[in-house]
Amino acid sequence: MKEKIEALCKEIEEKVKSVSSVKELNDLKVEYMGKKGIITELQSGIKDAADKKEYGMLVNLARTTFNEEFDKKQRDLNELELNKKIESERIDVTLPSKKIRKGSKHPMTRIEEELEDLFVSMGFDVYDGPEIETDENCFQKLNLPLGHPARDAQDTFYLEGEYEKYLLRSQTSTGQVRVMEANVDKGPIRVVCPGKVYRRDDDATHSHQFMQMEGLVIDENISMADLKGTLEAFCKKLLGEKTDVRFRPSFFPFTEPSVEVDATCFKCGGKGCPLCKNTGWIEVLGAGMVHPNVLKMSGYDPEKYQGFAFGTGLDRFAMFRFGITDIRTIYGNDIRFLNQFTRGDEEDVTK
Ligand code: PHE
Repeated sequence: MKEKIEALCKEIEEKVKSVSSVKELNDLKVEYMGKKGIITELQSGIKDAADKKEYGMLVNLARTTFNEEFDKKQRDLNELELNKKIESERIDVTLPSKKIRKGSKHPMTRIEEELEDLFVSMGFDVYDGPEIETDENCFQKLNLPLGHPARDAQDTFYLEGEYEKYLLRSQTSTGQVRVMEANVDKGPIRVVCPGKVYRRDDDATHSHQFMQMEGLVIDENISMADLKGTLEAFCKKLLGEKTDVRFRPSFFPFTEPSVEVDATCFKCGGKGCPLCKNTGWIEVLGAGMVHPNVLKMSGYDPEKYQGFAFGTGLDRFAMFRFGITDIRTIYGNDIRFLNQFTRGDEEDVTK
């Protein structure tokens, strides 16, 4: 028996050594240790053995020999396989990489953020209202009842069917209504509402979609002087300290009195040039004192509260700033247009 087991151990050692794959190794395991394996059969012969103790020890020797050889071989094979894998998946780090295209902020986003920063520095909040609005918020509560002639200048896009009471807002003044209604009796308001607006327009300086920023201040004892001071500070910061501002009488249904605000042409400094059509002035804002009817409709007592509002088109600022000649290119999604506004000082994510 002893010789038989010694021979068996030798055989195991040789066979395991000669194996060259995990599959072959596992086959050997079945051959020796499986249900009908050689060692398993030997094990079951113990009941007939004369010297059970010795028989058991010898079978155990065979079993440990197999297990040890098996583990050793398995480790070797695993290592071999891993090395093969590493070899085949080797990366050449010296190969040139694919160029990642760098994005940049859209010129309108830049102007919007710049103006928001400016107003936040003056103590304003920023409110972002919906672009799909009701007729009440866009017109009626701004003192433009159904059939009012001033609606013509702001003809917009209307929704149909069950949504027919909705339209695409034609002005960010809708933000005035929403902010006032949400803040009745909650103290003073100082807010700017930037966002997209829509009108039925389409030429080089008018797009069916454009951007405005509305400003609203409501408090006790607010006067035209506050409006003038705020807009002067705004124009100077945006267009340069030397900028002068002038107010011209105008009309908006939701402000009384209403003004059109001009700033000295930043290109010629007021001397006259093609940009300002030789007037020396550029129109930058519509503004005025909030109409008592508007205050009343949104829950404020006009005897106690006053306010001023202003609205400005952001596209005009972007066109001035970046020398854009056709407003429609701003919304055309043409990558050749957008590539021109890549800023050197923006973070390059590829580095
Ligand atoms: N909403 C006006 C427009 O779109 C601008 C404006 C806003 C005027 C606030 C006065 C006060 O033309």
